[in-house]
Amino acid sequence: MHWSDLPYEHGAAGKRAHLKVQGLNAGYGPFLVLRDLAFEVKPGLTVILGPNGAGKTTLLRALNGLIPRSGEVLLDGEDLPEKTHEIVRGGVALVPEGRQLFPQMTVLENLELGGWLVAKAERRHRIDQVMNDFPKLRERARQLAGTMSGGEQQMVAVARAMMVAPRLLMLDEPSLGLAPRMVGELLAIARRIADAGTTVLMVEQNVKKALAVADRGYVLERGALVAGGPAKLLARSSVIREAYLGAGESSASKPTTAQAARAAPPEPIS
Ligand SMILES: Nc1ncnc2c1ncn2[C@@H]1O[C@H](COP(=O)(O)OP(=O)(O)OP(=O)(O)O)[C@@H](O)[C@H]1O
Ligand SMILES: [Mg+2]
Repeated sequence: MHWSDLPYEHGAAGKRAHLKVQGLNAGYGPFLVLRDLAFEVKPGLTVILGPNGAGKTTLLRALNGLIPRSGEVLLDGEDLPEKTHEIVRGGVALVPEGRQLFPQMTVLENLELGGWLVAKAERRHRIDQVMNDFPKLRERARQLAGTMSGGEQQMVAVARAMMVAPRLLMLDEPSLGLAPRMVGELLAIARRIADAGTTVLMVEQNVKKALAVADRGYVLERGALVAGGPAKLLARSSVIREAYLGAGESSASKPTTAQAARAAPPEPIS
């Protein structure tokens, strides 16, 4: 793959995106899920870890304008717009949980839809580029997306998001439901995208593998950030080791995240 060939590295939008969030609240109607979150997504790859129901998807949806939010969200020092299409125009793309492709449409049609905001000539050019980056998708351009394997579908979903040449790419559990080899492949793709200049914010439950490719990480539990820092340090932190990696690697003997949070005070959020 040749992410370095993508236009966003050379274009006017060459500066790497930096997201800064302060006092973020979001939820569903009267049900507040995220309470007073503060974090930063610096250039590179940032991962958000946390158990089921912690609010990880809610966080990405709030940043993408799919649900209302309050608080401050600054992209390179400017307020992030509230409407999804304006957020996308601002250079932010989301690969949603569960991929959400159009299964009855071909790979090519899915990519075209990903680029619907882009002028037609430019759209053709970008399709050509994402197909260079994912040669498998060129071979499968006419295949119905719904008939592809889980890993291939996730690649289509990532490629579709790359159609807008985002400066900030958000990935919601790209490895969900994939075989171990494909998990590694998808996380490596996220790493390459970050290395090529697109800032990446990724939600993952594959703690060990995600921290191995990320620069920085945060742990979200019950709607609040309980730890954060450089990925290497986070991997060694008590919160992560006790709650997610398990002292003896036996999942049966793992303490619950709530037990671990009580046993270990939260580490500073940086
Ligand atoms: N559309 C919705 N309406 C009401 N509550 C919701 C809705 N979507 C999610 N929630 C609730 O918000 C909380 C956080 O859910 P969310 O999907 O953000 O968690 P998550 O960390 O992404 O979990 P998972 O790892 O299972 O994907 C949960 O209590 C969930 O039940
Ligand atoms: Mg989720």
